[in-house]
Amino acid sequence: MKENFSEVVFSVPYEMAAVRPLRQTSRHERQAALQAACYNTELIPQELVYVDLKTDSGVSAFSTRQMATLLGAGSLESGMEMAAEGSGAFRSLTEKFRKVFGFPYMLPMMQGRAAERLWTKLHVQSGCVVAGNMLFPSTRYHIEANGGKVLDVINDGAHDLTAEHLFKGDIDLNKLTAAFKEHEDKVACVYVELCVNSCGGHPVSLGNLKAVKAAAGANRVPLFLDACRILENSYLIKRREPGYQKHSVTEIISETCALADGCTMSALKDFSVAAGGFIGVRDEAVYQKAYAQSFLDGAQPGSAVIAALSVAFDELLTGDAYAASRVEQVHYLWRRLKDTIPVLHPAGGHGVFIDVARFLTQVPKENFAAEALAAFIYETSGVRLTKGPPLAPSQTERGVELLRLAVPARRYLQGHLDDTAEALLHAYAHREEIKGLRRIEKAGRPKYAPALFAQLGQ
Ligand code: F0G
Repeated sequence: MKENFSEVVFSVPYEMAAVRPLRQTSRHERQAALQAACYNTELIPQELVYVDLKTDSGVSAFSTRQMATLLGAGSLESGMEMAAEGSGAFRSLTEKFRKVFGFPYMLPMMQGRAAERLWTKLHVQSGCVVAGNMLFPSTRYHIEANGGKVLDVINDGAHDLTAEHLFKGDIDLNKLTAAFKEHEDKVACVYVELCVNSCGGHPVSLGNLKAVKAAAGANRVPLFLDACRILENSYLIKRREPGYQKHSVTEIISETCALADGCTMSALKDFSVAAGGFIGVRDEAVYQKAYAQSFLDGAQPGSAVIAALSVAFDELLTGDAYAASRVEQVHYLWRRLKDTIPVLHPAGGHGVFIDVARFLTQVPKENFAAEALAAFIYETSGVRLTKGPPLAPSQTERGVELLRLAVPARRYLQGHLDDTAEALLHAYAHREEIKGLRRIEKAGRPKYAPALFAQLGQ
């Protein structure tokens, strides 16, 4: 709790109502787990992990009301079927979605990637180009699966891992204009990811989005948002963009969405649900087409998923407290590390990112420095880090390699984050002990199976 002039500022807008015990493993057990997982921290069983920073997706704590909703008879009503209007959960969610996001039509989906799959099917044709800002791998995948090409038009500052630029997610307007010129009528849409994962969870400013909208509009190209992390993006706008300090997070969400012609969103990160997402649509004909497609694809979520999302709207978007505590928790961890550990600057929205090349200068990339560092941290502390989803090609082409500490919203206490910080500081002090890994192949394993490693010299 901090004193802010005459007003008390509360730090945490919830309290524990149910807990899941954590097992306290010994170093010997963790060594055995690492060996069994062939040094790939992704493969370590959940019950042997102390603090799990692998993802912030679908792993947050439910609220008591969400839990009651999921268990209650209300969530057993019929789902959307052919006519969504028959579902009370759908009608209630649509109303709440319209109020905050402003799109007249909302299509609930099971996940962000299902939303992207459907949305790109409708808007991306073979031979066209999509301009974006280091788009998430699932978005890229669906654009490319429809025969489109992704053009990265993010600003150059996004590639500078230490620059203090506050809106590294911004689009470079010169690059965007050049893309419109070069590809003339082939640009299907501009797709903007908010709080861009590939460059460290960095936000997009409203000033930039307004300019992007104007440029796209002048070329009659629609602007779509990957709104997966719109809460963090809006909170960081409130904190950082001149003129928005007195705006509420929901006002900023509304202003952001007002600039877009559509959005896809995974609700698994910020809405504390284990499944769910949306497509936001302006045009009725497009909505009806998308609706029919979601019915045919079997992509409609059940009413329990919709009802849990509806509760999240009531509980998480009524004030700024939730978004603030979520982002401030990430910033707390970042501050604990920034003076010693080579973390990306400035602090982002959903996680802390480590520049592996500067952490482990003695381990070459070909010895899997990132995986070796993650394995060392797990062995010494039980904390799980991974590289996270694959980075955008414009990052990997530059040799960027990151380890991500994705902080799930509303899951961990300050003690967990302190222990994580200690684990990283310990690893940094003992970094010379980390030797690297080598890739091993096992006969008959399919090429998409997770990578397996052994320690160098073994
Ligand atoms: N867009 C962004 C920015 C994401 O971070 C994710 C998922 C998606 C879309 C896809 O959503 O998982 O519901 O299908 N990110 C998770 C992560 C997997 O760990 O960052 P989804």
